[in-house]
Amino acid sequence: MSKVFEPLEIGKLNIPNRFVRSATYYALSDVNGYISDESVELMKTLAEGEVGLIITGYAFVSKQGQVFPDMNGIDEDDHISAYQKMTRAVHERKGKIVMQIAHGGAQATFAAKGEGDYVAVSLNGDLPDFGRKPRELTDVDIIGIIESFGQAARRVQASGFDGVQIHGAHGYLVSEFLSPTTNHRKDKWGGSLENRMRFLIEVIRSIKKQVSNDFPVMIKLGCRDYLDGTDSLTIEEGKQVAKAIEKEGIALIEISHGRVDKNFRKMMEKINSVEKEAFMLDDAKAIRSAVSIPLCLVGGIRTLSVAEKLVGSGVVDCISICRPFIREPDLVKQFKKSAKTTADCISCRGCMNRDDEGKLHICCRHLEKSKAVGK
Ligand SMILES: Cc1cc2nc3c(=O)[nH]c(=O)nc-3n(C[C@H](O)[C@H](O)[C@H](O)COP(=O)(O)O)c2cc1C
Repeated sequence: MSKVFEPLEIGKLNIPNRFVRSATYYALSDVNGYISDESVELMKTLAEGEVGLIITGYAFVSKQGQVFPDMNGIDEDDHISAYQKMTRAVHERKGKIVMQIAHGGAQATFAAKGEGDYVAVSLNGDLPDFGRKPRELTDVDIIGIIESFGQAARRVQASGFDGVQIHGAHGYLVSEFLSPTTNHRKDKWGGSLENRMRFLIEVIRSIKKQVSNDFPVMIKLGCRDYLDGTDSLTIEEGKQVAKAIEKEGIALIEISHGRVDKNFRKMMEKINSVEKEAFMLDDAKAIRSAVSIPLCLVGGIRTLSVAEKLVGSGVVDCISICRPFIREPDLVKQFKKSAKTTADCISCRGCMNRDDEGKLHICCRHLEKSKAVGK
């Protein structure tokens, strides 16, 4: 049997195969981040599709870090009972599920456009323009957010999840601290790489204090920025970060990107040949040379043969997929029974669709609406 269908141990967590559903925001929660029955249905569908490990869409650890009005939240204990329903549904189907937790930082669009608190690592960084200036984080704020991550992780374990994943990529707060393009602080949280990664290290320590010793703490790490012509996070720095967090007891690193420009966005599109797949493979190789903990790679993986090569060669231990599962949540099952060898997804950016009332639906634009999960 191909190695991609063999189990993998991630600390005490044993997953049945090497296919991970990368965290995917689904616009199914209410404005306070309370999940709906539809979210539970979605996770059931993925578990029935035999995905080895499901990672939920990102959940905000505090309202200040809320990116969308309908994203998941994990900022209060009251969320736990609904998530227990979700984890039970997945476990009843023999699936495994991890929650991704996040703070949007200066990319917290919803916080930025609302009346509340909206913060940035430093004000003179390269920030998105939401028409309102954020407030620069104080020392007290930073300590408070670190504590919020710990408290969120405690709730994640109490909800029955099989682990927690820190969102440390895509320009959100952890990534904002790591990148010299957004972190211009002159205190202990900015400047040298050691200072820029201090926030992440403290977040991990805070989480570890709140969960049991054997509870897997994972991260989706923006290992480098993909920004042309600027002094941004390099893969050499990404390797140093990976080494440091391995020492802190991180169970798995999912390799992803930090801040991106339009060239990177092009790499994400029209993945119609195997050459265009796994577009961050070089970063995976670099991180593999630095650490020995389990690694996962995301980004443009569409065919079974590419997945087999990535796992078979040992560059990574598992691979993760986002957009193809929006169209085909049973993709792994189909691969397994040789019903197909390539995902249908054409990476067209047609996953975010608005209905007549302006409500966002995450579904494949090319699928009959009635069949799309999330409609
Ligand atoms: C609709 C949508 C929602 C996403 N939500 C998240 C998220 O909540 N957290 C995250 O880390 N990445 C998120 N991503 C990024 C994906 O997890 C993944 O890193 C990216 O799409 C590349 O993988 P793919 O080529 O398999 O789609 C999202 C992407 C899409 C298209």
